[in-house]
Amino acid sequence: MVQIKSLEEYLKTYTRSVEQPELFWSEIAEQFDWIQKWDKTFESDMIKAEFKWFRNAKLNITSNCIDRHLDNKSDQTALLFVPNSPDEAAQKITYKELSLMVNRMANTLKDLGVSKGDRVCIYLPMIPELAAAVLACARIGAIHSVVFAGFSSTAVAARINDSSSKVMITSDGGYRGNKTIDLKGIVNDALKSCDSVESVLTIKRTGQETVMIEGRDYWYEDISKNLSDECEPEIMDAEDPLFILYTSGSTGKPKGMLHSTGGYMVYTGFTFKNVFQYESGDIYWCTADIGWITGHSYILYGPLLNGATTVMFEGVPSYPDFGRFWEIIEKYKVNQFYTAPTAIRSLAKESLEWVEKYDLSSIKVLGSVGEPINEEAWHWYDEHIGKRNCPIVDTWWQTETGGIMISPIPHVTPTKPTYATLPLPGIQPVLLDEQHKEITVNPAQGSLCIKHAWPSMARTIWGDHQRYIDTYFSAYKGYYFTGDGALRDDAGYYRITGRMDDVIIVSGHNLGTAPIEDAINEHPAVAESAIIGFPHDIKGNALYGFVILKESGTDRNQDELRIEINKMISDHIGPIAKLDKIQFVSGLPKTRSGKIMRRILRKIGEGDLSNFGDISTLLNPEIVEEIIEGRL
Ligand code: WT7
Repeated sequence: MVQIKSLEEYLKTYTRSVEQPELFWSEIAEQFDWIQKWDKTFESDMIKAEFKWFRNAKLNITSNCIDRHLDNKSDQTALLFVPNSPDEAAQKITYKELSLMVNRMANTLKDLGVSKGDRVCIYLPMIPELAAAVLACARIGAIHSVVFAGFSSTAVAARINDSSSKVMITSDGGYRGNKTIDLKGIVNDALKSCDSVESVLTIKRTGQETVMIEGRDYWYEDISKNLSDECEPEIMDAEDPLFILYTSGSTGKPKGMLHSTGGYMVYTGFTFKNVFQYESGDIYWCTADIGWITGHSYILYGPLLNGATTVMFEGVPSYPDFGRFWEIIEKYKVNQFYTAPTAIRSLAKESLEWVEKYDLSSIKVLGSVGEPINEEAWHWYDEHIGKRNCPIVDTWWQTETGGIMISPIPHVTPTKPTYATLPLPGIQPVLLDEQHKEITVNPAQGSLCIKHAWPSMARTIWGDHQRYIDTYFSAYKGYYFTGDGALRDDAGYYRITGRMDDVIIVSGHNLGTAPIEDAINEHPAVAESAIIGFPHDIKGNALYGFVILKESGTDRNQDELRIEINKMISDHIGPIAKLDKIQFVSGLPKTRSGKIMRRILRKIGEGDLSNFGDISTLLNPEIVEEIIEGRL
């Protein structure tokens, strides 16, 4: 794999990627196994949002992730599975074993009638079968739609219905810290409102009792037993869909981002190698869940494309104690460690003894992802985990971008706390001002947009191309709009300042305000609500809800209502979307056209009461005073 080793080389490569993108990307793509090569590197229309990468090329991504390593790495560990409980033995799954697991699972899916283009919904804990399920879909050309196992049955049902998944893969239950989650029960509930699912493949993990429905639900171990562990890879076009992954948006309906095969492979393979400077034999660990894009691209596809050893951790950083991450790093001699600022902050507030107990000298590179990393967390990470000796790669990207876009390259790009620094080769970020003009001077601040197509960009929103155009390609004509604001310093380094839309990042999870408000409004006592984010020491942002009660709700006990509202959110979305603060108000500040002025609520939530700007244009300016007085 092409590997950039010096700043000079980066600058040269970057310039070439901008001046000769066709040549640049075709050279990178040459490093993978293709059944048939492309006749054109890319076609891009940033107005209609139509993109083709590696036109007419044929491949199978699992041949690249697995089969191509079988000649010389068949006994090397591909997946290192670390269970939730430290008392349960870790499992080293070699490339050979992974190949057999994936192929057997692929044959099982075929046996259940899954074929190329069918959607398979995967709702599993972080166990090896999750990796196998994802890759099994890719093996036979089925489109995987992984739903994070923290989502509620309503959220799961919405995603199954949106993608009309034919088969569901789940487990009896899952372990997370000291909790056991009834995953199959949640699936059973979800499926009451889903017609498309014909079969449910169930993996045994916890051994708990569960209701199995005859003719629909199958234990994986039973039906896979007599099937072959050899399965020819399906021949896929570079633009055939690989997966759908849902992300929050500005309406209640989740956006199913659709990624395609060839471009995604090339980009995740290339960026994994460079951003983590992965060397053969290294042990790489990304603590994300495969239910998010970080897990798709940088636990599974990126590492496996490079023949890496990738750690899959089932548990949480605080179980059985706050030393868990560091204990795992010491035990398995992890070389690259990739986590989220919220995890760093939550561990930084605990005693340093948890860190100092362990030998972390194996670490070469530290990564951060998911939200801006604040200065304090950056320095703690650098000093106590990296011992001031490991570059921190603050990687900025999105579900929609498929892979890391702006990031330092270790030992190549000098790092700067809180800055994601420079774009990777092939990526052309720009800052646009309020007049929609590119800002060419430095320093600058504006809307972060991308000017040129890249291989792993999402191709559409499943079933709704117009929404894809409207969300990403309409605000600034001719550009991809990220939804983020950013600063650029004199050196051209980017610092992401945060979302410019109605998405709030809580503990690294992307949450739309609309779906949460929809859930709250389902409560019989609630008339209307508005959600904002406010700064939180550990979560980055926490949620603050302003709720107007109906007449019937006004004499209810407010603490009880708060519990019920959070239960409502938990049932509709999942516990991650629960509110930290709920303030009952008699009205919300609105413009004359009826739009809620979130800007004002945000200031109140942040405790910044200094300057609300002009509120005289509000329909109900008097409400602001009431809300300030009652603020929590
Ligand atoms: C949003 C995308 C792709 C990784 C997981 C999140 C924020 C992501 C950073 C970073 C500042 C970041 C952005 C982005 N974000 N990484 N290094 N610094 N902000 O994926 O759920 O699609 O969220 O996460 O606001 O738009 P996602």
